[in-house]
Amino acid sequence: MAQTIKKAIFPVAGLGTRFLPATKAMPKEMLTVVDRPLIQIVVDEAREAGIEHLIFVTGRNKGIIEDHFDKQYELESTLRKRGKSAQLDILDQDLPAAGQASFTRQQEPLGLGHAIWCARNLVGNEPFAVLLPDMIIKSQPGCMRQMIDVYAARDGGNVLAVEEMSWENVHRYGVVAAGDWLDNHFPILSMVEKPQRQAAPSNLIISGRYILQPEIFPILESLKPGAGDEIQITDAMIELMNDQPFFGVKFKGTTFDCGDKVGFLTANVAFALERDDLKIPLQNALHEIIKTHGGKLSWER
Ligand code: G1P
Repeated sequence: MAQTIKKAIFPVAGLGTRFLPATKAMPKEMLTVVDRPLIQIVVDEAREAGIEHLIFVTGRNKGIIEDHFDKQYELESTLRKRGKSAQLDILDQDLPAAGQASFTRQQEPLGLGHAIWCARNLVGNEPFAVLLPDMIIKSQPGCMRQMIDVYAARDGGNVLAVEEMSWENVHRYGVVAAGDWLDNHFPILSMVEKPQRQAAPSNLIISGRYILQPEIFPILESLKPGAGDEIQITDAMIELMNDQPFFGVKFKGTTFDCGDKVGFLTANVAFALERDDLKIPLQNALHEIIKTHGGKLSWER
């Protein structure tokens, strides 16, 4: 039987230059979708999938992430005095149990592959998950849950979340070539990081969720920089494909690439429109604001 996935890596060392000045003093992973930070949303997804140990690969100026996953005594005692039990419950649910979160630093920005390698001693010799907080996936059950189901059905191996992307945007992602489909998944035949549109083997991109075997670590250790002059996890996976199976899972759900401003803003609207307390007032406000600015909403066509 495939070994259970108990640990997840969250690479959160990136500088977030695309969101400056918002991210000058605050990590980009703390930007919020409605009222939950991006990092909290991906941690929720991991915990829903049964992940027990959260490993954050941070960098300088990322201390707030560690504080976010800690108790806040002053705040909690104020909420208690004011009888704000709903808010206290939220804080309580979100708090990992003592010892369930670990933090390590990527000292230099050498790429995603290097960030994952920085967590090798915390992961040890067992398969693990990786969740990139830039990619927020709205789905029921969560994307990582869907991947773990495929991992169990295939009795192990390596599993990547994939989805179709418009051809003009494939060059921004890792891209895979699919073998024969079985329900919602397929064996991956090849992959390439950030190909030119003409060189892309398909328009199936890697959506920022991975289940990987620990044999990836020694490969990362000796890997040369690839696309963008960075140590790429995709290049390490290409090497591991020589020895181990890789599967792509076309999960059910909607992805918002929150590394991009439009993706981030759309995520806020989409998540808010699903909330009973926000749906109607937000619809009305969007209607008004778009009218004021001379546009039209699609339902007015
Ligand atoms: C990384 C991966 C890429 C993947 C993408 C998803 O790229 O290298 O394969 O498709 O995440 O967001 P990055 O966004 O770090 O450039």
